[in-house]
Amino acid sequence: MRGLFIVLEGIDGAGVSTQARIAAEWLERAGRVVVKTAEPTEGPIGSLIRQALRGEVKVGMRALALLFAADRVEHYYKLILPSLEAGRDVVCERYLLSSYAYQSLHVDINWIRAINSQVGRPDLTILLDIDPRIAIERKLRQQRGRLELFEKLDVLSQVRARYLELAREEGCIIVDSSPPIEAVSREIVKAIASIL
Ligand code: TYD
Repeated sequence: MRGLFIVLEGIDGAGVSTQARIAAEWLERAGRVVVKTAEPTEGPIGSLIRQALRGEVKVGMRALALLFAADRVEHYYKLILPSLEAGRDVVCERYLLSSYAYQSLHVDINWIRAINSQVGRPDLTILLDIDPRIAIERKLRQQRGRLELFEKLDVLSQVRARYLELAREEGCIIVDSSPPIEAVSREIVKAIASIL
């Protein structure tokens, strides 16, 4: 039987990594085999993206959108699809909705959809929603004052609004990520359990 493809999304500092780890551990305890992964990936294209996010290489916004899409194609066909076909569940931090929400600030969303049309859709996307002010504070603490390309209050406020709009359009589950970690993960587990 094919595995489940679950994606966690949210603005920088929403707690996506923490909650993805907890969700994967919960699935494992439920007896499932889980592949935990993230975008940007650790592959060659993902590494280039991270350099651009840190401002170490200069890449224009259209090219960056293409890099995210290219990284995703590699990720999907080399890791995600084979894992699902082998019956493993895949828990992925960020996927299509990240490109729709972030890259559409600078680039036409129809083109973003077009360049991302070759990859499979998740079975479930969960959006962790949080006030960007809380998110920025978390990022400042975690990264000792260093912020990346999109980690600015005005940018994250716009990304949050787009995420909420997209999540409604695409039928994603929206979870309030401001309560303590355990309370948030209970909501996430409920959403996952409902599709198991
Ligand atoms: P992030 O999950 O914050 O990685 P890390 O925790 O290692 O810093 O992701 C990096 C950034 O990339 C984040 O600001 C969101 C952005 N991003 C996009 O703009 N488009 C995309 O398609 C993806 C996957 C990420």
